[in-house]
Amino acid sequence: MGSLAGKVAIVTGGASGIGEKMVDLFSQEGATVIAADINEEALERANQKENVVGMKLDVSSDEQWAQLAKDIKERFGKIDILVNNAGISSEKGFKDINIDDWQLMQKINGFGPFAGIKHIAPYMAEQGKGSIVNISSYTAQIGQGFNHYSASKGSVRAMSKAAAVQFGKSGVRVNTLFPGIIETPMTQALTEYRDLLNQLIQATPLQRLGKPEDIAEAALFFASDASSYITGSELVIDGGFSAQ
Ligand SMILES: NC(=O)c1ccc[n+]([C@@H]2O[C@H](COP(=O)([O-])OP(=O)(O)OC[C@H]3O[C@@H](n4cnc5c(N)ncnc54)[C@H](O)[C@@H]3O)[C@@H](O)[C@H]2O)c1
Repeated sequence: MGSLAGKVAIVTGGASGIGEKMVDLFSQEGATVIAADINEEALERANQKENVVGMKLDVSSDEQWAQLAKDIKERFGKIDILVNNAGISSEKGFKDINIDDWQLMQKINGFGPFAGIKHIAPYMAEQGKGSIVNISSYTAQIGQGFNHYSASKGSVRAMSKAAAVQFGKSGVRVNTLFPGIIETPMTQALTEYRDLLNQLIQATPLQRLGKPEDIAEAALFFASDASSYITGSELVIDGGFSAQ
């Protein structure tokens, strides 16, 4: 029996990269997984998978979150796991970032996970149990030139702690993962800069970039009952890059 047998999980950004790998791993481990994403075309691929249901969601919409929570509750009767994974990135320099850039980044990367907690944690609290895993970034902990992206991921870090404290008494756990550079469509552009890529690999103690499964395995641990006494905690998954 898988470690998520009988559980209902939501993975935002579940149609690509890290989120897609989580969807696959969680369903292999026995969960029914809702891959919630803004990319409808990619969701069609998710819908072909066993025990996976693709649902359209723009994480920056309060209304869409409310509807999603209601639909899932009605259809599946419960919500055990939420992974707030959907996000966008940018390497823009300080002088090039304007208010619209800032607000879009915060809307998706900051408000998205906030709204997920706002709409899903109360259901979990009613059940007396639930696990929320938020995906931040190593750039929330060290300066790496990602500027407003780092700021948005820093807000995820702080909010996760607040939510862990607030919902702990109701049996809802909230933990945060901090991926390093992971090979996904988000970092595809890096492959064009072979020298930079090699420098990054050489600067990483474990001498490689991360893979989506590196993050998915950690998310599985926090999602499952194996971590039942862990909340408000943080795990960096970056091959040791930020330990230096
Ligand atoms: N790849 C990395 O190196 C890396 C490093 C640190 C953190 N992260 C974080 O991990 C998460 C997943 O990244 P990835 O590399 O798999 O990226 P990705 O671009 O492959 O996937 C992101 C997914 O989020 C979805 N998405 C974007 N905006 C959305 C919205 N408004 N509503 C719903 N879905 C939306 C996209 O459609 C896509 O399916 C992100 O939060 C990212 O910031 C990634």
